[in-house]
Amino acid sequence: MMDNTFIHILLGFLVTALVLTFLIYTRRRPTPIPHTTNIDIPEKSRPIPPSYPLKSYTPTQIAAIGRFPSYASLTGVPPPTPYHTFNITTAKPRPYRPFRWAYHQTMALTKLEPDWWLELESTYVTRLSQRQNLLEKHKEKIIDRFTDINDNWRVEVACTELMEMVVEFLSLRYPQYFDLDTENLVFWNKILGRRFELKGVDPLHVVFENVPEDFAIVMPDEGKEGKYVFVAGMICSSVGWDLQEKIGKVLGDIHAVVPEYKEKMGMSMDRYFSKLTTDKPIQRGSWDIVIGEPLFMCAGEELQKIRGVQDPNIKEEDLTLRVDWQTLRRLPLSGGVVFNYKALFTPLREFGDEPGVPALVEKVVKEGNRKIIGYKGIWHVEHVAVPMLERMKREQVERGVWEEGRDVKTLEESPFYRGWEEKWRRQQGF
Ligand SMILES: *[C@@H]1O[C@H](CO)[C@@H](O)[C@H](O)[C@H]1NC(C)=O
Repeated sequence: MMDNTFIHILLGFLVTALVLTFLIYTRRRPTPIPHTTNIDIPEKSRPIPPSYPLKSYTPTQIAAIGRFPSYASLTGVPPPTPYHTFNITTAKPRPYRPFRWAYHQTMALTKLEPDWWLELESTYVTRLSQRQNLLEKHKEKIIDRFTDINDNWRVEVACTELMEMVVEFLSLRYPQYFDLDTENLVFWNKILGRRFELKGVDPLHVVFENVPEDFAIVMPDEGKEGKYVFVAGMICSSVGWDLQEKIGKVLGDIHAVVPEYKEKMGMSMDRYFSKLTTDKPIQRGSWDIVIGEPLFMCAGEELQKIRGVQDPNIKEEDLTLRVDWQTLRRLPLSGGVVFNYKALFTPLREFGDEPGVPALVEKVVKEGNRKIIGYKGIWHVEHVAVPMLERMKREQVERGVWEEGRDVKTLEESPFYRGWEEKWRRQQGF
């Protein structure tokens, strides 16, 4: 699955789109962005479109709105609550275990928890510096934007509003570590001991230097019949993902390589996006079992070589669960849709004291749709992972935390597991 994390995110949303469409189906095509310029919005009475999604503001309106509007009221998503007890030195990401059974190519789509849009943890400084190194080496393969669309001013608006939402979120959520001065447009990151100007800078770089997560912005292009085009992004952690190959493409073209796409979906993601409102952000996860912590893995032949053999030298302690935790939301001013996602690594051994997790993963790996599991590339570690999962399951049965023969299905606590919070708090010390 890591071959194309982004594609999988898109893919997941597509499937969900199918379900949602049954619920909210209307025969409307994606509404084109209207050209209603020259409407002046007095500063104090900004109209907030009630169900915003289908149009963006005009340049005049955006100019009138100014920098750092109230994104909570623009989007309908409440601001995050301050996390005073949080300590970056010991913080661990929440233990996402997005396993599902029955396994199929659909996704458990859940509402974003507004407090957890961006989630910092103890690897923060390390990850930022790894990503900075990747940027220096790969340049526009890591950060890029595409402006060859109708009304292309929207691309820069999207990048700027994303940056503003990001720095605002950080300073509200982690007030002990970030300060934001919206008057003078300055942002302080006390973890890095750095000051960031928010004026006359590339907003994507500000995001990149403060959040070790990947972001991708898509946007409807009237010139392409309202289809969503991938217009801007920073992508470090997706295996085999060459930004240069994907940027400027419509989503349909990006999807073409995913197995079973045609059979299972055959419907337009554009339709789903056209109905996504700013107040309904979404979260989901995808996963893979990998060797070590490959943040940015090779693609193509080299990857095929690794995944094509079951290396007899792999040990249990080499195996890692990689979860890509993803959120998706509509940006209020530009009408773009932004994905962000981060790669989280957990030693597979941790499953030992996570009730029901070994049994569930064993089931998915052994009985999941071979075509899709094959695509995920788990085969190359199955010879170590499967016996390990079987043993951990047996031990849980012996300890009485899991019943033999119990119906294996998606855990009630999904995307977590029973008792996760206690263990997570113990490990962090807060
Ligand atoms: C965070 O945790 C570290 C390591 O336990 C500790 O040294 C530091 O004082 C803590 N910081 C705060 C603000 O509690």
